[in-house]
Amino acid sequence: MRRGSLVSLLGIGLVAGGIAAAVALLIPWLPPVASKERVRIDDVFWFTVVICIVIFAIVAAVLIYSVFAFRAAPDDDSDGPPTHGNTTLEIVWTLIPTLLVTAIGIFSAVVLAKNDALGKNVFKVNVTAQQFAWSFSYPEAGNVTTGVLRLPVNRSVLLDLKSLDVIHSFWVPEFGQKEDTVPGLHTSLHITPTKIGSYDIICTELCGLGHATMRSTAIVMSDAAFDKWLASQKKAAGGTSAASVSGAAVFKNNPCAGCHTLTAAGATGKVGPDLDKLPQWAQQAHQPLESFIRTSIVNPNAYVQPGFHPNIMPPFSSLPKPQLDALVQYLIQSSKKG
Ligand code: CUA
Repeated sequence: MRRGSLVSLLGIGLVAGGIAAAVALLIPWLPPVASKERVRIDDVFWFTVVICIVIFAIVAAVLIYSVFAFRAAPDDDSDGPPTHGNTTLEIVWTLIPTLLVTAIGIFSAVVLAKNDALGKNVFKVNVTAQQFAWSFSYPEAGNVTTGVLRLPVNRSVLLDLKSLDVIHSFWVPEFGQKEDTVPGLHTSLHITPTKIGSYDIICTELCGLGHATMRSTAIVMSDAAFDKWLASQKKAAGGTSAASVSGAAVFKNNPCAGCHTLTAAGATGKVGPDLDKLPQWAQQAHQPLESFIRTSIVNPNAYVQPGFHPNIMPPFSSLPKPQLDALVQYLIQSSKKG
């Protein structure tokens, strides 16, 4: 090969690689990092991206160079020389990808093993997925159930995941790893949140009509704030009457606001019926207000508001009775005001 050709190939390769690297580095493709595990996941991502950029640069260089260097003259109608296999080349282009893919595989396996290794003093949360809501219960707080996930910062957290119906998948982009919930199985996900803040929980497995609405929030709190919250939940879970539990807190802790409007709670959801108009809906259904609200929470398909679909709202039948009673009272009060 002539020296000039080598220089041209190298030049094209550097330009192509430079453009690809700029696109990879200058555009913020990834969400902010909020867990230790996410840092390792990103390492695998960048390792793979670097390999891809190098291969892209080589292919682009050969391709662009060939288009110009070997183009046929305008009056050249002849066929090119007949070329058959090239054993050396075939071994090279089989061996290099095999090595690269094996390297990515080994790196990923090491990262996954490290991500699964629990730290000291593990905090456990049971996660239940169902069409189409997430709920979280805390064994350290008398199994109190919430619709929003609260976690202490810088602590090893083990999520024990289960599904009541079909396959869902738990994903917080800022935490990095995804994990499926599978009916009949317990799967788990280990995370160590490193940044205080609130993050979207997304169901990332198509699970039915309401899949897109199956979202919640993960709130990472300081140790002190978390302990205080956990203690208050412990107390609420131990409460035996609706009077000792705040209905507003139950509404806030559960995913109600994601789908419903309720002025008193600042909720503006439009997926489900407007809760400010509960007295009107109960009248339409020819049911007394209190039992109408209670049934609609624990068995939403018993009566479906005209204009809405059944099976969108999950039954909240596992709400402890004091929480359910408080929520019903809260909804009666708030809707009468609304
Ligand atoms: Cu649950 Cu998608």
